[in-house]
Amino acid sequence: MSLEVRPLHDLFGAEVVGVDATRPITAEEFAPIMDAFDTYSVLLFRGPVMTDTQQIALSEHFGVVQVAFKANQTGGSMFSRQSNINFETNEIFPADNHRMTFLKANMLWHSDSSYMDCGSLCSILASREVPPSGGNTEVVSTRAAYERLPHDLKNRIEDLTVLHSLSYARDKMDMSILTDEQRDAAPPVKHPLVQVNPANGKKSILIGAHAAFIDGWSEEDSRDLLDELVERSTPQESIYSHAWQNGDAIVWDNRCILHRATPFESTKYRRHLERTTITDRSWVAAA
Ligand code: OGA
Ligand code: MN
Repeated sequence: MSLEVRPLHDLFGAEVVGVDATRPITAEEFAPIMDAFDTYSVLLFRGPVMTDTQQIALSEHFGVVQVAFKANQTGGSMFSRQSNINFETNEIFPADNHRMTFLKANMLWHSDSSYMDCGSLCSILASREVPPSGGNTEVVSTRAAYERLPHDLKNRIEDLTVLHSLSYARDKMDMSILTDEQRDAAPPVKHPLVQVNPANGKKSILIGAHAAFIDGWSEEDSRDLLDELVERSTPQESIYSHAWQNGDAIVWDNRCILHRATPFESTKYRRHLERTTITDRSWVAAA
């Protein structure tokens, strides 16, 4: 069965047309969605606003849903809440609340959970309440970026390993944002810099805000290369910027997509999206 898709950008990304992702999807219906995910790296579903239960059901087709990191408002559950709303009071957080700092950390290009040992296959970010303007989510393909790299640079990075660290990225924003306990719960982990999609052999680069060091390299040499790779991956014309409508849900492949939040009038408008982060089932079985 082929699926009707509408490309979002020349290089990657597709809207899946005619599938209501809030309804139960059979394994047979899911197979072409998974193929489209491996091909396009970013899938957009438009439909009714998802409930938490519906989002988990969609997520479980892709793999195993991770438990969110403790520092999130919904830490310990299957959701990472991206919101400027305090759910205890239903009010917008004041500008100086530390949650707002977390939202700012999302404005650096990153790949979700790259600081976790298991890494992540994909994230699903689904809208619950969106602002009338601003707050787009931007995504870019490091598969497309890898293809653009000069041959000698491809050779240079082929066998490198990168240390990813949550505190490294957060410290760039604000030294005091993580507690010692949160820091200890997320020690640096290693991932190959060049990732290979097993379904189609396409290579990509796993970089972004959590990528702290190249294994065995000095901080300065690591920064030079990692910053160069982010820069080469994110020229303006290679970015897809998603303007949220209520009911949108986006799936991105964390192995080959970098994403970031963009500003909006966060003391005036409400914005609430829920993210599930998913590990490939085969990685869990092998661990
Ligand atoms: C995320 C994220 C960006 C946004 O949910 O992982 O980075 O625009 N979100 O909220
Ligand atoms: Mn993110």
